[in-house]
Amino acid sequence: MRLEVVESVADVRRAVAEARAGGRVVGLVPTMGALHAGHIRLIERCRDEAGWVAVSIFVNPTQFGPNEDLTRYPRTLDDDLARCRDAGVDLVWAPTPSTVYPSGPNSTWVEVPVLSDILEGASRPGHFRGVATVVLKLFEVVRPDLAVFGQKDYQQQLVIRRMVADLHIPVRIVTEPTVREPDGLALSSRNRYLSPDERGSATILHGALARARDAVRGGETSANRVRQILRNTIESTGSVRLDYAEVADADTLESLERLDPHTRAVALVAARVGSTRLIDNLSLTD
Ligand code: PAJ
Repeated sequence: MRLEVVESVADVRRAVAEARAGGRVVGLVPTMGALHAGHIRLIERCRDEAGWVAVSIFVNPTQFGPNEDLTRYPRTLDDDLARCRDAGVDLVWAPTPSTVYPSGPNSTWVEVPVLSDILEGASRPGHFRGVATVVLKLFEVVRPDLAVFGQKDYQQQLVIRRMVADLHIPVRIVTEPTVREPDGLALSSRNRYLSPDERGSATILHGALARARDAVRGGETSANRVRQILRNTIESTGSVRLDYAEVADADTLESLERLDPHTRAVALVAARVGSTRLIDNLSLTD
């Protein structure tokens, strides 16, 4: 099996048509490159579920705010391709911005407003509009049977699921659990920005989430008290600045008052460690 690497929409469509003609189920793993073991886990899940795997590698400019890290976002294409080859990927689509946005970036948008304006969306205005727009484009070009996303970006996979449902897109969305370092830090392309000291502090995000989950398992039912645990734990750590700490309904992201056995709940946090913004989340009720 040989990895094919293509840039144009026509080449993607030809490769996918060939796979379909061979009776293959087509899976897609959208990424921005700088691939790590979290992305590889998604690829493996996709291979198990689909059989034929396409990976897109595109640092999508429309999901970055004006003061965000678009220009310094890591670009490691040769290394990414080697990892894809090792992971048995069939097709890598690495388009240029003008391929993805033929009329420029402000021509057509997709918005999922209710889920996009809170939490990450409140901190990063326009972020999920950029994500939804690019993912719809990827879906339209590849037309996959299924696509795999990471729970690491919890709100993102909910936005995609909502878009797929509302637009009747014939794709099955699979969410794969977060891959972590042995000390709990969620793998992220942005972890490479952290200094050794900041890397040490960054584990507090998962530490706080684990404490919150333990409290719920121990019988805590007040969402406010759980939020307080998250806040206190994260704010007690030097060089970490909390952005938000929320306890929300796992499907709608509505803020919860009480935790009860009938409602799936998730804790979500975002914080700046030095100048690097990190996010993490943990189910409170599994
Ligand atoms: P990117 O940050 O490259 O992530 C690609 C996929 O990998 C996402 O579904 C993300 O949730 C998943 N992922 C990242 N870290 C993970 C980890 N530690 N464990 C499991 N999965 C992990 O997310 C994006 O790109 C973009 O927004 C994209 C969807 C490609 C649209 O541009």
